[in-house]
Amino acid sequence: MLLGDGIASVMRRPHCVLPPEISQMGIGRIVFTCVDNQYFLTTGKKILSRGRLSFHSYRMAKSTCAHAKRVYHPSMTPHPSRRTVLKWGMATAVVAGISPSHAEVTTHSLPALGYAPESLEPHIDAATMTIHHTKHHAAYITKLNEALATQSDLGSLSLDALMTKLPSVSDAALQSTLRNNGGGHWNHSFFWKIMAPAAQCGKPSPELSKAIDASFGSMEKMKAAFADAALKRFGSGWAWLIVKDGTLKITSTPNQDNPLMKGIVADTDLGKPLLGLDVWEHAYYLHYQNRRADYITAWWNVVNWKEVNAMFGS
Ligand SMILES: [Fe+2]
Repeated sequence: MLLGDGIASVMRRPHCVLPPEISQMGIGRIVFTCVDNQYFLTTGKKILSRGRLSFHSYRMAKSTCAHAKRVYHPSMTPHPSRRTVLKWGMATAVVAGISPSHAEVTTHSLPALGYAPESLEPHIDAATMTIHHTKHHAAYITKLNEALATQSDLGSLSLDALMTKLPSVSDAALQSTLRNNGGGHWNHSFFWKIMAPAAQCGKPSPELSKAIDASFGSMEKMKAAFADAALKRFGSGWAWLIVKDGTLKITSTPNQDNPLMKGIVADTDLGKPLLGLDVWEHAYYLHYQNRRADYITAWWNVVNWKEVNAMFGS
């Protein structure tokens, strides 16, 4: 009987069901062994975590990874060294035909708000902020991670890069999942960042004000055009202020699309977002009910101009 039983890049393989002990541990390559039913989760460079599988889970790991390339180590000692485990983790990537540098799958996580959920009141209420952040945004991330767990190339991309790669995803169902949930993650992460308690918002910089005047005539005209786009978005979606080639423009996208999605969104609506307003009902309905216009008007009080200025200047 071989003591070292197997190594598999479990989370990169389709149809793998992860044992409960390791399903929440993160992304990496899993080395599992029949010696004390141990498992090691590695990046190929370091051991992220280790533990013991129940007998049931150990059998699950073995059976669900049966199609993965196995590497056997007859010379395995009952207690493999850290160095040996890492070497196996690297070997898995090589055997699978994946360079170690491309074998990492990004685990997206919920970003902190950066302010207390009640600190945007009375303009946006605490309950809406809490539910929006910890339920809606978190759900996008969960579904995004689930979809990427089995994708070798897409899973290693940054969120920004993923937004531009969507047209290359030939599986229509996967593309839709990544578009909706990857977009949802990007959009909400951006949304939290460009808001702040009213007293901390600052003002548009002279450079940004000048650009707004040049593109729209005045700040008030820009806000009016932005509100118009937000009000006219039928159903759910976003209103944006973008910059492209030095010119500012207002756009709107449905659902969780955004101006970074080249090949998904019309070329004329692509650009670098400076402002983005969520006009899904979940963003305002608890407090404003059907009064989307009031929500839009109030939102300007919590726009973090310091952050917008920095993005415009970068
Ligand atoms: Fe939202």
